[in-house]
Amino acid sequence: MKDTWEDVDEYFDDKLHVSDEITESILEKNEANGLPAIEVAGAHGKMLYLMAKMKNAKTILEIGTHGGFSSVWLGRALSEDGQMATLEFNAAHADVAEENIFNAGLADKVKVYRGSALDTLPSLMEKGYRHFDFVFIDADKENYPAYIRWVLEFSKTGTVIVADNVVRNGRVVDDETEEAQVPYIREFIDIISNDPRIEATALQTVSGKGYDGFLIGVVR
Ligand SMILES: C[S@@+](CC[C@H](N)C(=O)[O-])C[C@H]1O[C@@H](n2cnc3c(N)ncnc32)[C@H](O)[C@@H]1O
Repeated sequence: MKDTWEDVDEYFDDKLHVSDEITESILEKNEANGLPAIEVAGAHGKMLYLMAKMKNAKTILEIGTHGGFSSVWLGRALSEDGQMATLEFNAAHADVAEENIFNAGLADKVKVYRGSALDTLPSLMEKGYRHFDFVFIDADKENYPAYIRWVLEFSKTGTVIVADNVVRNGRVVDDETEEAQVPYIREFIDIISNDPRIEATALQTVSGKGYDGFLIGVVR
């Protein structure tokens, strides 16, 4: 049986034209290539796009590319001269992402950098990136604390930071949880909580992907 929120997702997807041929083809290609269905929900992909567009982002960093679904949503928000770096350590995921990004007409703006994000992040400055206007963190949760420290290095006043999967079906507040990733999410939240450079909130979400949520912040 479908959950109510899946019907609601479908209603808004239809009414607000959330998906299109390109985003649908990305999901099909990801599935055909055996990638796990761990992309953000369509409505959340469009939310990321709208947020980056509201920010008028010229530089975007994504940690965790997968098949490029959220990369394409974010890349679409870039201005003509905009650039996006997206980091992925799984070569098969990166191959599919590059194809999806090319098919979306974004290959000149959205670059997939292969390797462990913690190895790639220090090299981004040599690649010409200095500050990012918008950052989306969506990779291994164990490294969220390290990622936020790096992201702050690449931030300036007004940088928007969004991180996925911070609610984890509510387990973020469950002291009894055995989920190994929860302590890292809490450490990530504690870093933000104690850092006067960031103003943040969290948005709980339900979708076809279940109950989870985003951390949303801006650098002062
Ligand atoms: C949840 S998926 C990203 C989904 C994507 N943002 C989307 O919504 O379409 C997480 C991705 O991060 C990648 N990943 C995990 N650990 C990583 C690491 N240490 N460095 C780089 N990528 C990593 C995984 O291979 C996976 O493709």
